[in-house]
Amino acid sequence: MFRSPVIDPDRSIAQPSDWIYRRDIVRPGSKDVFESVMDLAKRRGFIWPTSECYGAVAGFIDYGPLGAMMKRRVENVWREFYVIQEGYYEIECPTIAQEAVFIASGHVAGFADKMCQCPHCKEFLRADHVAEAGGIKNAGTMKNEDLSLALAPCKCLACEEVLGKVEVFSFNLMFGTSIGPGSQRTGYLRPETAQGMFVDFGRLLRFYRDKLPFGAVQIGKSYRNEISPRQGMIRLREFTQAEAEIFVHPNSKNCHPMFRRYADYTMPLLTSDKQLADEPTLTLSMQEAVERGIIANEYVAYYVAMTHALLVKIGIRPERLRFRQHLPDELAHYANDCWDAEILSDRFGWVETVGIADRTDYDLNAHAKASGTPMTVFIQYDEPEKVPRRRIIPNMGVLGKQYRNKAKAIFDALAESTPTPEGADVVVDGEKIHIPKDLFEVRDEIVDVRGEEIVPHVIEPSYGIDRMCYAILEQAYDEDEADGETRVVMRLSPKVAPVQVAVFPLMSRDGLDTMAREIQETLQKQNILAEYDDSGAIGRRYRRQDEIGTPFAVTVDYDSLEMQTVTIRDRDSMKQVRVPVDRVPGTIRALVDGKVKFGEI
Ligand code: ATP
Ligand code: GLY
Repeated sequence: MFRSPVIDPDRSIAQPSDWIYRRDIVRPGSKDVFESVMDLAKRRGFIWPTSECYGAVAGFIDYGPLGAMMKRRVENVWREFYVIQEGYYEIECPTIAQEAVFIASGHVAGFADKMCQCPHCKEFLRADHVAEAGGIKNAGTMKNEDLSLALAPCKCLACEEVLGKVEVFSFNLMFGTSIGPGSQRTGYLRPETAQGMFVDFGRLLRFYRDKLPFGAVQIGKSYRNEISPRQGMIRLREFTQAEAEIFVHPNSKNCHPMFRRYADYTMPLLTSDKQLADEPTLTLSMQEAVERGIIANEYVAYYVAMTHALLVKIGIRPERLRFRQHLPDELAHYANDCWDAEILSDRFGWVETVGIADRTDYDLNAHAKASGTPMTVFIQYDEPEKVPRRRIIPNMGVLGKQYRNKAKAIFDALAESTPTPEGADVVVDGEKIHIPKDLFEVRDEIVDVRGEEIVPHVIEPSYGIDRMCYAILEQAYDEDEADGETRVVMRLSPKVAPVQVAVFPLMSRDGLDTMAREIQETLQKQNILAEYDDSGAIGRRYRRQDEIGTPFAVTVDYDSLEMQTVTIRDRDSMKQVRVPVDRVPGTIRALVDGKVKFGEI
């Protein structure tokens, strides 16, 4: 979330630091698979450091062939929820925006983290992370001067020397640039995709035919010049966000039209009260959570539950997932409730992966004020309301003659005045003028008011796609035994596995290869990514696919030629079933879509 409010640029959110969790909350006995996962990811083409030949730059990664495909699949699951299910259309804004946007949003003044430099090894460090690793609580909310003093006994996270005297200062995380030749116009690389959707409000409103609620979503790169990005895919300087901005009537936040879909969805919630009392999570349905005032409203609860369902769908284990409410002093200045979906990592502890916030009308008001463009919706009443109205009708003939070139200004001022029985006092160009009562008429009327202009509130679920991808990889990594050897297997959900099925001819001759190629083609026609492999022993081929998480393999053997059947092998159980060749594409499609389980074939 937003680091620090505009009202007090020195305050930053007490976001539980990865460093703290890394040391304290990793489950006892759990194996840290970070090194193994990263080794596999680099070796097999999921992710690797960028521009390695020049020496990699911290905070930037490349997705390799398999990683890019997996990431795309994760994004597409996100689209299934937000675009297909919710009906919120996707837009695409530039990743660079002019300075005015980020002045209005508050990022120029306040999007800063606390930084210090180790006097020994000269490394720049996140001061709040260093402090929290040294046992200092709520370092994120401390003033810079206080944090400087508190850091003295803490150890540098890089060289582990005791810091001693250090100065803490605020470091703005936005990457600046100039637009056009020279430095005519300042621009910034966006630190969140959200602002593009706020500044497009007027056009989006017309697209949705002037009706609330409506939503816009965007998947794209965001940029933050993180001070000390040493956590692989968790903390990047260029990362992908998938964000939804849902515009709602401020009085309808407790009336989500589809709330019943998730009303009974039950999950553990780490409320702010429970955190402050150091007590465990509460397990509640969304309905109960809203009724008991734990989650601010139905909209926030709906997207908390939907986020849980989405994360489980891409392969996150529910026991490694929790929803943590922001503490009152941790809330961003624009938010009145915020829940983070946190995923437990062996290496990094609980990692914020999605933030679901009620951003109120903060952003629309800020952009309306700064740009001079109203960002309101006209809400028509069911029935026009009868409203008393007083009109002041000047006697223009007399006023015009008497006041000449001031008459128009007096006319306007009269309309706003509060007349007394003697007349009305108005101020024009700093001059107080008394207008006698016979120069105007006061008419009291009842008028029909058809509706009102309101500024919508915004509910924002904000997903970090890279953190989701890391969690998927870490949780999928497994080792077991096959044929007396250790087998490395990525237990990726078929929904996100880059290669969906492998096709092997037992031998690459005698027509087995031709038949396997034909099967590959029929699978491709079903939009299934099928990898053909005929090199090496069949056992080795299975191992290669297990290691990249391919959930199913089709093998063509000599019986296939005679009986027109093939085997389908399940990656996780390593079991095989024989199916008629003509049923292969339909069966694989159903398996990949999760419509049938392997045991049900
Ligand atoms: P953190 O406290 O971990 O820096 P944040 O509170 O700043 O995170 P948000 O501003 O809420 O994060 O951003 C929304 C989402 O974007 C986060 O939940 C996260 O998944 C993702 N995100 C934010 N910063 C980064 C980053 N540097 N690298 C990768 N993903 C990020
Ligand atoms: N849009 C929420 C965030 O990036 O902080």
